[in-house]
Amino acid sequence: MSLAAEVEKGLETDIVGRRLNYFNEVESTNSVATEMADDGAAEGTVIIAEMQTHGKGWMGRRWISPKDGVWISVILRPRMSPAHAYRLTIAAGLAVAKTIRSYGIDARVKWPNDVIIGEKKVCGVLTEIEAEIANLRYAIVGIGVDVNVDTDLFPEEIRVGSTSLKAELEHPVDRVEFLQRLFATLEYEYLRVKKDNFQAVLNDWRHMLATVGKRVQINTPTKTIYGEAIGVDSEGSLIVECKGGFLEKVVAGECIHLERA
Ligand code: BTN
Repeated sequence: MSLAAEVEKGLETDIVGRRLNYFNEVESTNSVATEMADDGAAEGTVIIAEMQTHGKGWMGRRWISPKDGVWISVILRPRMSPAHAYRLTIAAGLAVAKTIRSYGIDARVKWPNDVIIGEKKVCGVLTEIEAEIANLRYAIVGIGVDVNVDTDLFPEEIRVGSTSLKAELEHPVDRVEFLQRLFATLEYEYLRVKKDNFQAVLNDWRHMLATVGKRVQINTPTKTIYGEAIGVDSEGSLIVECKGGFLEKVVAGECIHLERA
């Protein structure tokens, strides 16, 4: 039985993963999902691939996607302003962290959207949207988790900062079960966002955030900020106390944990 058929068999969701499209290899599940969404694919449709040849990462970077990982994209069609689309990314990061925690691993969130174990990255989320000014047509939430990936084979610059569930648990994880748990958790968080309960999502996310209390470097397209991360506001923006006590609120950027303040 294929991975998708096995996932479908024990699925407990109403939306996420109810329609599954499984591929051995694609360029990027986000690109496939975009084409399908343009063709009218239903809310909750998931694209899964065993491997991606051009996996897309944050800020135009590549995302290494060999076999044994979980590379998925979820098509969502919430009624929301494009300005709130980042809420879907927060919900997805939280869902992944909760799913990994269900294996007894202390997964945390590194602001804004990485899931880490210790200081090593295990998951990235890339949300892409299609929108008019005031109206989100659809969002593609792309999630990459190094479930059973042999991260020792990654190029050195990525290897040192990466881990997998297999490395942490010292045994491989059943990806069917992982996907079923992830879809259920993602649906739960997504419905909370949709039902105007984003603050509940944010609250859980805040409790899992490893960034607050750390000295950080934040690279934004326009500047680099150094300081101590002292909290997040009601929209998930990071509040950084810079030299001289000056507070910066950062909406998005690449965050590097320097050390505890
Ligand atoms: C990041 O750089 O942290 C985000 C990585 C997102 C990777 C996932 S894997 C599935 C989906 N398809 C892609 O091409 N990218 C996302």
